[in-house]
Amino acid sequence: MKNKIIVTGGCGYIGSHTVVELINNNYDVVILDDLSNSSVETLGRIEKITGVKPVFIDIDLKNDTETKKVFSKHKDAKAVINFAAHKAVGESVQKPLMYYKNNLYSLINMLSSMVENNINGVIFSSSATVYGTPETLPITEKSKTQRPFSPYGNTKKIAEEVIDDLIKSNDNFSAISLRYFNPIGAHESGLIGELPSGVPNNLMPYITQTAVGLREKLMVYGNDYPTKDGTPIRDYIHVVDLAKAHVLAVERIINKQQEQPYEIFNLGTGNGFSVLDVINSFEEVTNSKLNYEITDRRPGDVPELYAATDLVKEKLGWEPKKSLNEMIKSSWDWEQKLRNNKE
Ligand code: WQD
Repeated sequence: MKNKIIVTGGCGYIGSHTVVELINNNYDVVILDDLSNSSVETLGRIEKITGVKPVFIDIDLKNDTETKKVFSKHKDAKAVINFAAHKAVGESVQKPLMYYKNNLYSLINMLSSMVENNINGVIFSSSATVYGTPETLPITEKSKTQRPFSPYGNTKKIAEEVIDDLIKSNDNFSAISLRYFNPIGAHESGLIGELPSGVPNNLMPYITQTAVGLREKLMVYGNDYPTKDGTPIRDYIHVVDLAKAHVLAVERIINKQQEQPYEIFNLGTGNGFSVLDVINSFEEVTNSKLNYEITDRRPGDVPELYAATDLVKEKLGWEPKKSLNEMIKSSWDWEQKLRNNKE
């Protein structure tokens, strides 16, 4: 009998890659998604990759009644991975109430339905943004969290606190919060990858859309930061490495291997790369010149972020395998396939 996992936002970028790894590890997956930032086509692509089409329920988790119904129907699930959230930093600054409502209402409805149906384990998709501007590097899980610059980031910080308070009130409930650094890349099949709606906020999709001719040029937001080349440094991590960490977190929760009911892990490689490093790597990998221009800083950007990875290696036995060049090559392959299929 396979263990069933509910994956909210499972048609999205990180969600779909995680669903592939769950199926590859013999889990039954039920995807809950409102398709507000993803496509139902992803289900067929997951099936092409794994041979299995996951159960899919089109649901808005802000709808309390619907959420209760779905969780009651799937009360045999062993755990839930919660990806469902809006995640565009810039948009969240323009529309804070939409972000607080969407990301927190859906979380609270989901958690209530889990408790009601005795599904007592959640893996939460969090972000390094909860650390704000770090005082020391590398960032460990004990590093101080600060109020993130964006409402998007703040919904992640508040969500972690909501889960913490739930656990303090309920001895049966447990959670693992995974704080992602900068996920990039795509599955080797080129069938699933990052699909930003509208103009990409994030660096990698903007680079690949520029290279494929969708965007005129990449704006590099500032080269006057206190870093080796003046551009900000980030800890880029391959989305497939990230997905594999979620399977290990599910196993830890299901097999009751947690050392405390609420565990937090950074998911990064421990290596920092600047924006110019990424551009140079892209040009090397694709043997092309990228059209870019240095412009002003983007409000809210921090100079340098990279993870300490000792805890997740020790407790989850997880280690990222993919290099920056492999991440970039997979992003580029995905972008090219995406555009060729569209033409
Ligand atoms: C990376 C670097 C930019 C675009 C955010 C969220 C985080 C996570 C990932 C949400 C920065 C520079 C970018 C561009 C640029 N989750 N850049 N030109 O800001 O580190 O993290 O996304 O998806 O929670 O905070 O990622 O890819 O936006 O930026 O110069 O057109 O690239 O200044 O230094 P970020 P990013």
